[in-house]
Amino acid sequence: MPAVSSSDKVLSYEKVAESVKRAQYAVRGEIYLAASERIKKGEKVIFTNVGNPHGLGQKPLTFPRQVMALLTAPFLLDDPRTATMFPADAITRAKTYLANIKGGVGAYSDSVGNPYIRDEVAQFIQARDGHAADPERIFLTNGASEAVRTLLRTLIRGHMDGVMVPVPQYPLYSASIALYDGCFVGYELDESTGWGLDLVKTKASLDAARARGLCVRGLVFINPGNPTGQCLSRADVEALVRFCFDNRLVLMADEVYQENVYRSRHPFTSAKKVMCELGEPYTSGLELVSFHTVSKGVYGECGLRGGYMEMCNFDPRTVEEIYKICSINLSPNVPGQVAVGLMCNPPRRGDPSFDSFMAEKAELLASLKRRARLLTDAFNSLEGVSCQETEGALYSFPQITLPPAAVAAARAAGKAPDVFYCLALLSETGLSTVPGSGFGQAEGTFHFRTTILPAEADMGEVVELFKRFHKGFVQRYSGPVAKL
Ligand SMILES: Cc1ncc(COP(=O)(O)O)c(C=O)c1O
Repeated sequence: MPAVSSSDKVLSYEKVAESVKRAQYAVRGEIYLAASERIKKGEKVIFTNVGNPHGLGQKPLTFPRQVMALLTAPFLLDDPRTATMFPADAITRAKTYLANIKGGVGAYSDSVGNPYIRDEVAQFIQARDGHAADPERIFLTNGASEAVRTLLRTLIRGHMDGVMVPVPQYPLYSASIALYDGCFVGYELDESTGWGLDLVKTKASLDAARARGLCVRGLVFINPGNPTGQCLSRADVEALVRFCFDNRLVLMADEVYQENVYRSRHPFTSAKKVMCELGEPYTSGLELVSFHTVSKGVYGECGLRGGYMEMCNFDPRTVEEIYKICSINLSPNVPGQVAVGLMCNPPRRGDPSFDSFMAEKAELLASLKRRARLLTDAFNSLEGVSCQETEGALYSFPQITLPPAAVAAARAAGKAPDVFYCLALLSETGLSTVPGSGFGQAEGTFHFRTTILPAEADMGEVVELFKRFHKGFVQRYSGPVAKL
């Protein structure tokens, strides 16, 4: 038999689905791959490209892990030593979950999540917003990403269906829209107002897309923002709710950073709460889906893959279809569901673990706030760098002014200028970041995203590395543009 050449393979690169090839995911793109190569060679890398708190040394909160330890090793509940090693409320919670999760964490659950935990989520939402939440409209998922993908999958019927996404955006959206053959319709955030909303421009973008014949069906917003770190005011959220209702768009509220708010100027207000407070016709007319996760906030449990979505005012037959899509996956992972339950139902005042849990949480949030401030100030102290404040979320997104010679050198190397800059940053310092082009940025501007997550003790070193690199880079390219 003759050997099969690589282009003859059934799944040769040329024959991979075009939608798969079109999907781009910069967070694990060129810089990440170069960083992984460095690791293989034994070189140092500081991974500030992904919002992965435990990956950068954050310790898990104690109480949720105590409960999960008992749940995953239930025989410990029969061991008399357990009462001396675990607080009573962790033991009680583990027993309650075991009583309510048939088969424990090793069994498939209902495809949209365990009903007891969905109830815990509903009560959390009700307490947060002051408005009722229906557990039947809350689906538990493997992280918020899966929920977002399921919704986009349901929304996008073909290449003429568009979804509005903020620019800069988190590339889960652009990648998934590409994967489902839909059309990405960007609406630009205004950097000069701290990445604020510009509804006039947003409307213009919608009108232009519709004029091109697209059927624009949804709008995503991320609050607090990734990569931009801004927190929306209540008025902004209200404007978006009205905008989506008036323009017949499903509102997709990505609220995964709701606990990561470092400035009191704009405390977090959920889209659900605003919708309920606006009353009719929004309360029954706006199709709203909100996303949350255990990966962010103070839990930072990215590896547990726990998330949920709450759907409001969806046609019950559509909910059935989404249920069916979830059923194809059989069941979201059960430890992740438990993590969601614990996030939504933490120790209460009077419980043995309450004080220590609250102290751990407060210390973590205070540290994130200090790190956010430190990075913003460090970037703004550099010539040619300007950085909006990280009011929330886990990122800093500075704008860099690159010397024309650097831009020319990047072009000569066949790289986008911000990619060129981030590659140089990685090779000279080991800092792995994500170029702004991976998120979208205004034409002619260059940015990069870094997380605020390196340990506080390492932050001084990170800042120094960055400052030294930036000054050296600018100096290197500050001469006239070389003739190519
Ligand atoms: C804005 C935003 N949405 C959704 C996600 C997905 O989170 P996960 O799938 O880990 O829950 C992330 C993760 O970084 C994010 O930044």
